[in-house]
Amino acid sequence: AATVEHTFNVGTLSWPRICQPGNISITAVGGVPGPVIEAYEGDTVVVHVINDSPYDVTIHWHGVFQRGTPWADGPSMVTQCPIRPGSRYTYRFSVSGQEGSLWWHAHSSFLRATVHGALIIRPSAGAYPFPKPDGEAVVVLGEWWDADIVLLERQAFLSGTQIPSADAYTINGKPNQTEKFSVRGNSTYLLRIINAALNTAFFFKVAGHTFTVVAADASYTTPYETDVIVIAPGQTVDALMAAGATPGCYYMEISSYQSAMPLRLGSFNIDVATAVVEYVGAAPTTDGGQQAAPARPEMPKPTDTATANGFYTGLTARVLPGRPTVPLAVDTRMFVTVGLGLSSCLPEQTSCNRSAPEAVATMNNESFALPTTTSLLDARYGKAPGGVYTNDFPDRPPVAFDYTNATGLLAGGAAAALSSTGRPTTKVRALRYNATVEVVLQNTALLGRESHPMHLHGFNFFVLAQGFGNYGGAASEQLNLVNPQQRNTIAVPTGGWVVIRFVADNPGMWFMHCHIDSHLSIGLAMVFAVEDGPTPDTKLPPPPPDLPRC
Ligand code: C2O
Repeated sequence: AATVEHTFNVGTLSWPRICQPGNISITAVGGVPGPVIEAYEGDTVVVHVINDSPYDVTIHWHGVFQRGTPWADGPSMVTQCPIRPGSRYTYRFSVSGQEGSLWWHAHSSFLRATVHGALIIRPSAGAYPFPKPDGEAVVVLGEWWDADIVLLERQAFLSGTQIPSADAYTINGKPNQTEKFSVRGNSTYLLRIINAALNTAFFFKVAGHTFTVVAADASYTTPYETDVIVIAPGQTVDALMAAGATPGCYYMEISSYQSAMPLRLGSFNIDVATAVVEYVGAAPTTDGGQQAAPARPEMPKPTDTATANGFYTGLTARVLPGRPTVPLAVDTRMFVTVGLGLSSCLPEQTSCNRSAPEAVATMNNESFALPTTTSLLDARYGKAPGGVYTNDFPDRPPVAFDYTNATGLLAGGAAAALSSTGRPTTKVRALRYNATVEVVLQNTALLGRESHPMHLHGFNFFVLAQGFGNYGGAASEQLNLVNPQQRNTIAVPTGGWVVIRFVADNPGMWFMHCHIDSHLSIGLAMVFAVEDGPTPDTKLPPPPPDLPRC
């Protein structure tokens, strides 16, 4: 195994505005997206982060297990204090036991919008469990704001409003049609598709082409044929695309699926982004001397849940020897609601002066607040959790109701009990080392109907079942215990539920949260505190001496 070393200069860049003259200042690592990290399974990755930006920064290695290195995971105030402006910190971790396409991104404030890039892990044996592609391309899907995202976030916070919607979508950081992928005819390409958007799930198509999905979230899947890929914020999809069409130009296009918020109305067409797939090395088809106009794919409607659900549920794992299989006995069962609600301050909170209820996001009616004095991991291993967090994240919501239709609940006044959470809390759920944990995630419709892409740090989980309505009926008993897909981010369907299972064999403090940043920032999160195991090699090592302190 080798060491792959990078230096990330997080700095301020002058960046052209979209469809308007002039530039804005953004924070990025050299560009958007930033550098691609390429490693082989088993390698050690070393990244020196130099923070030359005006903002606090941390970097998260999304999907990397961080076994034995939870201090390197990155979420600000969960596993470390931020790297201050003018400071530096070196992340060191190994990428073993996993291969495929992952990514890295800032995990402090909304900086992920511009501070992100691909992290590719190739199989160490050099062999994919699918035919070797002739070429490959990284395809990072994103959003664009014609402003400094941190300033927008601060304004929104001060005025008590939500951050505005993106001004455009992008493919590899570029708005419509400026990104070009060159392909040769009769060749197969591996597309490594990453959804780096803060708030938007996408449909992805290429006109005249179909895909074979071979992995999702860096876990191999049974080859899955489709002409549309659906990808929620935080997720990755590896897909083979056969370039077997008539030589010419074809549009690659993304459009929103159940966009978190309607796009801001602007003077330019912002509801899709396109790039061009161009065949090279062959004469283009001509039609009376004119090159044929590039074909555009027909995109599903933003509300096309049937298409999204077909894709999400169509994936199963490619079961390979030596890879983890589903644990059959369950030690810890949780039922966790995820959704948006309202919070007004409770009477006993004397310093509270909110005049109107505010939107909050909750899991089991708890709205999560990051600590402010030290990180959770530090608090735990510094043996001073008191005052920083409590160990009482509940295993079920305080009130059972019709989660998919809260109207009756709201009319009946029980909403006061359910949606007024009072202050955000910092509650974690302790898990015994090696416990098998099953979590039912139930999307609620108290306020807003959106799919929540739930991301778990430190693990992949098996997706055993998913469905619509309230968890309970026949569908919820139909668990796939044979070849369920493994993921680190699962889109919990609007008005539906998902059953996930994982083995808590990685001591640390692991964030689980909605990967829509505007939901994370208002509390759609919790933390699993996985306890140390019995042997020295299953106990957490102390933090690196240079870990940033608060
Ligand atoms: Cu990709 Cu906690 O995030």
